[in-house]
Amino acid sequence: MFNKLSDYLIKPKLYTPSTGKFWDDEHISKGMLEAHLNPNWHAATRKLDFVNKSVKWIASIAQPTQFHQLLDLGCGPGIYAERFRNECYTVTGIDFSRRSIEYAKEQTLLNKSNIEYHYKNYLTIDYVEQFDVITLIYCDYASLSITDRLILLRKVHQALRPNGKFIFDVFTPLMRKAESCSWLYCEEGGFFSEKPHICLDSVYQYDDEDNTELRQSIVITEDAVNCYNIWDHFFTKETLISEIPPIGFNSFEFYGDIAGKGFSDTGETICGVFTK
Ligand SMILES: C[S@@+](CC[C@H](N)C(=O)[O-])C[C@H]1O[C@@H](n2cnc3c(N)ncnc32)[C@H](O)[C@@H]1O
Repeated sequence: MFNKLSDYLIKPKLYTPSTGKFWDDEHISKGMLEAHLNPNWHAATRKLDFVNKSVKWIASIAQPTQFHQLLDLGCGPGIYAERFRNECYTVTGIDFSRRSIEYAKEQTLLNKSNIEYHYKNYLTIDYVEQFDVITLIYCDYASLSITDRLILLRKVHQALRPNGKFIFDVFTPLMRKAESCSWLYCEEGGFFSEKPHICLDSVYQYDDEDNTELRQSIVITEDAVNCYNIWDHFFTKETLISEIPPIGFNSFEFYGDIAGKGFSDTGETICGVFTK
């Protein structure tokens, strides 16, 4: 145990994987679903007044009468998807948290909203010119490495019909954290484990071309050590312009958030709307 622990206490190599699943872990996904459904938290999804504003704004720039088929990537338990449906889009949602997708499927049956949900990694989608709008909401694009972002962009481009829109948000460099270490004792269990555990949290910065940040949690229980590595990246208008149009998008617009706020150089997020 001691040797295993000391291995984790040095800065990991770029993109060292977690020891287990994060979004799809049996215990973590329970807390994550609670976070999604608690209207007072904004850890997993944004607060509902923002969500409502965001859905109305997306429906105003890509009107469902013309942009009918919408694909929501990383849809979680369907908080946006249900609202997109209420705006009269035909909605497909994809997520690789089994618990979230099961919850979303129950909701669409209850609401008779007829949303198609798939438990799937969005890096493996294979649609061809099927959607008018593809959304990726709450800065998920920023969690991907450049290799995975390029895979996703090609898949999104292929899945969109001509003139279709890819709408997503990312964090700006203002949101980059300072390196830090802290610890937490969860006597009764907590987010990462139902067992009593100590959690060692660190933030690491990397000087690679992609300005990568790692938020690491090492979770120590009586009988195990697990390590969760959450990677993040930060974007400017210029970095998005150098990355996305070369994939084949014809035009783009930027906003300050995914609810249509005006773009500002000093904002915490950027929303990109890229048209095929
Ligand atoms: C921060 S949550 C945002 C959920 C939703 N977009 C919202 O704003 O309410 C990120 C979601 O993306 C999902 N996710 C992350 N990577 C994924 C991948 N490669 N394929 C499918 N889903 C993914 C997670 O399971 C999680 O539900």
